Amino acid sequence: MRYKSQSIAYWYFAVAMLLFVLQIAFGLLSAAKYLGPDPLLYILPFDVTKVIHTNLLIVWVLTGFMGATYWVVPEESRTELYSTRLAYWQLGLFVAMGVTAVIGYLFRYGTGNKLLEQPLPHKLTIVVVMLMFLFNVGMTIWRSKRFTTPELVLLIGLGCSALLYLPALLEFENYTVSIFYRWWTIHLWVEGVWVMIQGGFLAYLLIRLSGADREVMDKWLYVIVGLVFIAGILGTAHHYYWVGVPTYWLPIGGFFSALEPAALVAMAMYAYAAMRRSGLQHPNTLALHWTLGSAIFTLFGAGLLGFAHTFPDVNKWTHGTLITAMHGHAAFYGAYGMIVLAVISYALPAIQPGRPERGTSLGYWAFWTQLSGMFGMTLSFATAGIAQVYLERIMGLGYLDAQLKIQVHFLMLVATGILFASGVAMFVIDFFRYSPRFVVDDAARPTGGGVPLTATADRARA
Ligand code: HEM
Ligand code: HEM
Ligand SMILES: [Fe+2]
Repeated sequence: MRYKSQSIAYWYFAVAMLLFVLQIAFGLLSAAKYLGPDPLLYILPFDVTKVIHTNLLIVWVLTGFMGATYWVVPEESRTELYSTRLAYWQLGLFVAMGVTAVIGYLFRYGTGNKLLEQPLPHKLTIVVVMLMFLFNVGMTIWRSKRFTTPELVLLIGLGCSALLYLPALLEFENYTVSIFYRWWTIHLWVEGVWVMIQGGFLAYLLIRLSGADREVMDKWLYVIVGLVFIAGILGTAHHYYWVGVPTYWLPIGGFFSALEPAALVAMAMYAYAAMRRSGLQHPNTLALHWTLGSAIFTLFGAGLLGFAHTFPDVNKWTHGTLITAMHGHAAFYGAYGMIVLAVISYALPAIQPGRPERGTSLGYWAFWTQLSGMFGMTLSFATAGIAQVYLERIMGLGYLDAQLKIQVHFLMLVATGILFASGVAMFVIDFFRYSPRFVVDDAARPTGGGVPLTATADRARA
């Protein structure tokens, strides 16, 4: 660890791990309900378990993003965090918000707006947490006067995430209007500003892990961000096909969202090229697995599987089916789950002195088990979804009749889900089995903190 205040990241990571486990438990419960019989039908029905599953996902990923930022920013800006106390308060408030929101969902206290079900007091708390976070990070960078490109991209991504949450505070009577604005938050998060967050972490990790040239990496990052914006903003229209807005959104959505994978292709090439050019210089090959894995799995889950149902002619059949769940899982996990696990795997050896730098064998098992499990789950959702579309939308069977005929795919979903869950258990056990010791390694700290450096001098010291 180079800076004492980086220790705060550990507590964010630890919380993220616990919420991840809880998210998976509710995912397995939701999947089991597809198989039935459901003894919890009246206590904990599917809609409740699914809301808890997806909300915990957003909370653990955001906790991971914030922890990872608290790890990255001191290193990039070569300074201590502006306020560790503020960061602890922020974590406490965020956890309190998350826990009470989940308890509320158990008692049907929520807004019912998919993925944005948080009640108003919780939404306001999220806004306060984001402001505390952005203030702390902003002040740290401002005081250090050292601002690198990965930090810039990361901060724009995080700042815009907070801004784009504001439409979620509004409530509309009209369903079409409500859903129109819902996508400003959800779509522009996952296919816009969160990709910038992922890109920022990816650049940081690739520079550290491969020793790649900072200037070259920065240029790639600008290209990726440019592509994300060109396609992603109007790509929002791929959610407007059937919601009651004018039909001109159909060609707009089809055209621009079909361009969206370009940024993800660039991202995977970026990661691969960095490795090819510089070789594997860093001993932490486990973090490298997660980093490259995230870039490649994003291309598969978001790029390929998103593209597969993004044209109106396809989407009119697949909209809102298990095909959406297929893509949602692979994309979310690859892009945001894996990048958080990558930063954690990179940071851990510096926080837990007993941990081998290259990672433990349990860590590699966790990687491959999770990957196989998620791949299997994606295939299960895909096969279930194809059969569902055929039976329900082409043959005209009722929803429940079609569900009964595709039970075998849910068996496969539960089996591969258990495989994935064991991979998560391995990661979490591996995380907690070494105790943290927050020792500052002065030798690892580059000199020149607080002074704006040229890119060349920077490269020499990175
Ligand atoms: C990292 C990036 C991405 C993530 C995390 C992601 C995640 C998701 C999620 C969770 C949903 C379900 C949303 C809901 O119904 O509430 C969804 C829907 C959708 N996504 Fe993505 N996505 C990503 C990128 C893409 C890309 C690049 C494309 C197109 C090329 C795409 C195309 C779609 C389409 C068409 C839908 C709507 C499905 C329907 O009509 O039911 N996604 N995505
Ligand atoms: C053991 C692991 C998991 C199982 C068994 C599981 C199962 C499920 C099930 C059954 C649903 C409801 C689908 C529906 O509405 O028909 C769901 C929704 C969802 N899950 Fe998971 N899940 C797991 C892990 C994950 C992970 C790791 C992520 C992301 C990193 C994730 C992201 C999502 C998302 C975004 C949705 C909403 C999709 C939509 O509405 O279309 N899940 N999950
Ligand atoms: Fe989208």
